Amino acid sequence: MKKIALTLLLVVASLGSASADSTIKDVMKKDFKPEDAIAKKVGKGEATPAEIDTLMKGVAAISAATPSKGDKAAWVEKTKALSAALAKVKAKDASGASDFKKAVNCKACHDVFKGK
Ligand code: HEC
Repeated sequence: MKKIALTLLLVVASLGSASADSTIKDVMKKDFKPEDAIAKKVGKGEATPAEIDTLMKGVAAISAATPSKGDKAAWVEKTKALSAALAKVKAKDASGASDFKKAVNCKACHDVFKGK
C-alpha cells in the first residue's frame, strides 16, 4: 500500500515537471479566460477572498514558469505586478482595482509573451 502511494506520488511529481510548459496555458484557461474566470471577477470587484487567494496561487505558478516568448526577467516583473495588485485588492487598498486592471490587460501581455 505504502509502495503504491509512493509510486503514485512519483508519477504525479514527474507529470508536474513534464507539464511545466502547460502551467501558463492551464492557468489561463481556468482563471483568466472563462466568462466567470476569477480574473474577470476581480476586475468587477466580485471575487471572494478565497477566489483572490486561488488567483494569487495561479499567478505565482505562472510567474515561476517560462512563457513561450519574451524575456524571462520582464515576465517575472509583469507577473509580480499582477501579484502585487491582487494583494492590494485583497487588502481592500483603494488603488488595487486600477493596478489590477492595468496588470491583467490580456492583449498587452499576450503581445509580448504569448507565442503563436
Ligand atoms: C501576465 C501576462 C498575461 C496576462 C495578463 C494574460 N495572459 Fe493569457 N497568456 C499569457 C501567455 C504567456 C500565454 C501563452 C502560454 C504559453 O505559450 O505557454 C497565454 C495564453 C492564453 C490563452 C491560450 C491558452 C491555450 O490553451 O493555449 C488564453 C485563452 C488566454 N491566455 C487568455 C487570457 C485572457 C482572457 C486574459 C485577460 C483577462 C489573459 N489571458 C491575460 C500571458 C498572459
